[in-house]
Amino acid sequence: MNYTLFLFGLLFLFPPALFAQPDFTPNYDEEQVPDYTLPDLLLFENGKKVESHSDWQLRRAEILQLFSSQVYGKTPDQSLKLRTQILSTDKLALNGKATRKEVRVFFTKKNARPYMDILLFVPNNSNRPAPAFLGLNFYGNQTIYPDPDITLSDQWMRANDDFGIVNHQATEASRGVRVSRWPVETIIDRGYALATVYCGDIDPDKNDFQDGVHPIFYKSGQQEPSDEEWGTIGAWAWGLSRALDHLLTEETIDGDQIAVIGHSRLGKAALWAGARDERFAMVISNNSGCGGAALSRRAYGETVGRINHSFPHWFGNNFEQYNSNESSLPVDQHMLLSLVAPRPLYVASAKEDQWADPKGEFLSAIHATPVYQLLGQEGLPTTQMPPVDRPVIGTIGYHVRSGGHDINYYDWEQYLIFADKHFGEKSP
Ligand code: GCU
Repeated sequence: MNYTLFLFGLLFLFPPALFAQPDFTPNYDEEQVPDYTLPDLLLFENGKKVESHSDWQLRRAEILQLFSSQVYGKTPDQSLKLRTQILSTDKLALNGKATRKEVRVFFTKKNARPYMDILLFVPNNSNRPAPAFLGLNFYGNQTIYPDPDITLSDQWMRANDDFGIVNHQATEASRGVRVSRWPVETIIDRGYALATVYCGDIDPDKNDFQDGVHPIFYKSGQQEPSDEEWGTIGAWAWGLSRALDHLLTEETIDGDQIAVIGHSRLGKAALWAGARDERFAMVISNNSGCGGAALSRRAYGETVGRINHSFPHWFGNNFEQYNSNESSLPVDQHMLLSLVAPRPLYVASAKEDQWADPKGEFLSAIHATPVYQLLGQEGLPTTQMPPVDRPVIGTIGYHVRSGGHDINYYDWEQYLIFADKHFGEKSP
């Protein structure tokens, strides 16, 4: 049948169906959370039980593969030869307390984008290589600390007048606008290094696969990732691993003690990076919510359907099969957390950030615990959701902070305590 005729026919027969918008009204009522059964972490796809450490290694590979094909999309296997260029060094940053360095990492043979700029602060008064935190930022490295010498990003970014981002470009007014999220001096005073990269250097946060790192890996004629291939979160996670490649060459940093951290969409990326790359010695998820730490099957706050609708570029296309159909997912997010085991993992929520489903994030940490236990670790030392601002700390740490969706000084204080505990225990 002629296509136009067919459409007219449809319009005539089912007028509302053509114009109906999918209904992704969020649910905030516990009573409305559907009954669900989580996939069993310790059961292979073929029904066999996971009983030993070596069984777990196989099951781990199986779960990783499921997240790769069904959720974030497959990351290319091909490894790139990275080139670096030092953009700046200041040995007397932060009033002499730290060395600040900027390193540009080129992803191709050309001295052009895509490249990423790593901004690094390392404590000066340390008598040993420093443990470090590595995390992506939302609006450019210049936003995390008001130092006029930090390179002002010229990459596309989401518009935000409040932060001095005009016409998708950072202006001088954006310097230091995110200091509340990056307590650089405290981190340095506590003996840690801090490395950050603007996420848009790896892939700008928009539904466009011509920019960022995706095209590097395209087959001839390819315009966008296939249904099986990675989206933007996958690329961010890959970029975190490339930043780690570089940090491992920095003599002032202890390569065995690098934590990957991220807030919100960048927390989703931190979790996926930490799950895939076991060189990260610790993983910290701050308010990562749907597609991060929160259980998808609870469909509370942001749902799979809603996130795929609002951010079609974040996940692999296969994830769309689970819109309003979470129960058919072969995984849930507790399985992502379990991929971090036996390494220390911190999951943080915020009371007023119901969109990210604090309870779903907490339950996920509980349900990941059996894998920690199988591997001889404590996991999360409670099954009761703690009151606000009362962190619980085991190999998995968890807190629900008072206040809203953010990463602030309180959150960092807990991460520093957590890192002291786990990295301190390992130090000579
Ligand atoms: C939106 C999105 C969340 C995401 C958040 C953020 O709210 O729906 O999934 O975590 O942005 O990145 O701040």
